[in-house]
Amino acid sequence: MHSATGLLVCFEGGEGSGKSTQSRLLRSWLEEQGHTVVLTFEPGDTPVGRRLREILLGPETGELSPRAEALIYAADRAEHVDRLVRPALERGEVVVMDRYVDSSLAYQGAGRELDVADVERVSRWATGDLRPHLTVVLDLEPEQGLGRFEGRDRMEGESLAFHRRVREAFLRMAEADPDHYLVLDARTSVDETAAAVRARVAPLLGQVAS
Ligand code: TYD
Repeated sequence: MHSATGLLVCFEGGEGSGKSTQSRLLRSWLEEQGHTVVLTFEPGDTPVGRRLREILLGPETGELSPRAEALIYAADRAEHVDRLVRPALERGEVVVMDRYVDSSLAYQGAGRELDVADVERVSRWATGDLRPHLTVVLDLEPEQGLGRFEGRDRMEGESLAFHRRVREAFLRMAEADPDHYLVLDARTSVDETAAAVRARVAPLLGQVAS
């Protein structure tokens, strides 16, 4: 379901695609328009989430069963939605999120090759099926987004083939539901990308109290 109050906008995409930059720029613009904005990210934007994030991304975790990984991302998400996202939407605010359910479908489903329908069921349960009004996919070839090999976290250290499956999954989800997705080429300049995001978000602000 989509919240009847507030507005939920998510940024998705591969590593190094500029989601954090764009989510911050969107927040600044929305605040200039007089909106109250909650900017959040997954995994790890709650006290319990921070501990889960260490397990999920810390190289010291080592091997983790793909199902356990999917469940921990879902646990982080449940906590995040209950504590931060739903309350803000109920207050009629704008929530801008850096990653959400689609990241699990792409990374744990397509990337780890778990059954996507299973991963989706778990995430839908974790969130009470709360869906974004808009998801912005910042699309980038994995070769361009992955940083130096040293310093990569557990997910970044996965193979190029893994990251290619992740990218394709985001694009397929967007293609299947154009009313709720905007795909932008992440190589476009920061300013142009931000303008394209604003153009798509502006008409959605009607339902938001300012
Ligand atoms: P983060 O440092 O927040 O990366 P980014 O800047 O790329 O968003 O790390 C999040 C990592 O966790 C990233 O590699 C994607 C991965 N991830 C999943 O595998 N499944 C998920 O459900 C989420 C939310 C993230």
